Amino acid sequence: MSIVILTGAGISAESGLGTFRDKDGLWTRYDLEEVATPEGFARNPQLVVDFYNARRANCLAARPNAAHEALARLEAARPGEVVIVTQNVDDLHQRAGSQSVIQMHGALRSALCAACGHRWPAPDVMSLATACPSCGAARARPDVVWFGEIPYHMDEIADRVAACEIFVAIGTSGQVYPAAGLAAEARRAGAHCVELNLEASEISRVFHERRFGPASQVVPAWVETLLG
Ligand code: APR
Repeated sequence: MSIVILTGAGISAESGLGTFRDKDGLWTRYDLEEVATPEGFARNPQLVVDFYNARRANCLAARPNAAHEALARLEAARPGEVVIVTQNVDDLHQRAGSQSVIQMHGALRSALCAACGHRWPAPDVMSLATACPSCGAARARPDVVWFGEIPYHMDEIADRVAACEIFVAIGTSGQVYPAAGLAAEARRAGAHCVELNLEASEISRVFHERRFGPASQVVPAWVETLLG
């Protein structure tokens, strides 16, 4: 039984990491054009570096919650059957013990050299002087996929979605593509599709089954139904 689990910011909300589009969400407090686009980075790199340093500090201070832990339990109980495809740039899935995690929007704790493409573990606090350990250029940026850029690992994700029997979306508003289109692809491929979210999302109609409530409650309960 292959299971693909798509997660969004809602799964980390109860770990203290704000979502993007809810009340007081990040995009209600920051202009995404300024802090999450290549153009914004070119215009004001210090503003962008500061924004991601603050998010990285929050991430480092956060702890996985019961939803992350339940998914790690599911993977341990079903070795090789479960893959998490996350839109999140935090590392709470990995810290909860999940092994098979695809970060399609990148990772806060990774740095990317804009000159040579080299990646390395990001220092907790990046600066404009942060130099690439490979080419030496001071052109480091957060290894995060910005608006207008292509998400990572899309071929592998497409293969996994086309082959899964169960597709689950957790804590995502279904407003950002290509992630928001994965449920429909899975359904077309014959998967049973489940939505676990605080409330209905933009893509709720795509799912066979919907369970609404805080992730820390609905995710462990859903995992229990599988592990029995
Ligand atoms: N439990 C479950 N779901 C929750 C919780 C919670 N405690 N809190 C909020 N949610 C739900 C909201 O109802 C909403 O549907 O999580 C969703 C969060 O939606 P967004 O803020 O839009 O986050 P996400 O869908 O992950 O955004 C997608 O957009 O900004 C870009 O690259 C960024 O990866 C991100 C992408």
